[in-house]
Amino acid sequence: ALRARIDRPIVLVGMMGVGKSSVGKKLATLLELPFADADDEIENAAQMSIPEIFDQFGEGYFRDGERRVIARMIESGPGILATGGGAFVSDETRGLILDKAIAIWLDADLETLVERVGRKNTRPLLRNGNPVEILKRLKIERRPFYEQAPLHVLSEPGPHLQTVIRIIKALD
Ligand code: S3P
Repeated sequence: ALRARIDRPIVLVGMMGVGKSSVGKKLATLLELPFADADDEIENAAQMSIPEIFDQFGEGYFRDGERRVIARMIESGPGILATGGGAFVSDETRGLILDKAIAIWLDADLETLVERVGRKNTRPLLRNGNPVEILKRLKIERRPFYEQAPLHVLSEPGPHLQTVIRIIKALD
């Protein structure tokens, strides 16, 4: 079975709003693997929300914590890990993921991202300007990094089960 052949952590990378956390949770349930979310782990470790971390300590500090949290989770064995949209852009964090895990780039068109991030306002990077324009720019800037993931899966609008099935097919 597929589950038995998964010997490395599976790390979901891609833009904010693409559904890494929701898809990751469903995938973990189906594959009976533990699930972790890097953003949640950082918030727990810092006992602060991500916007608070950005406000009080800045993005550099956040990226540092993000790298440490991801490194620790990758070392803890097979499982599904959802990362924040900027994690795979950092050379060090990306190197670590490419070296020790299976990276899956979860991708969607701009409209889908806009619709999904619109639901909550927890992204500090979208505060300073027009969120649609910022997402559009980040999507273009980050593509060369995301493209380095060995697997590329399109996230469907609507329920995530279809996307989870696509990931399972891509892994097989
Ligand atoms: C970020 C994405 C966020 C979070 C932080 C920075 C980014 O995670 O890590 O706000 O740089 O794209 P999501 O991708 O889960 O929104």
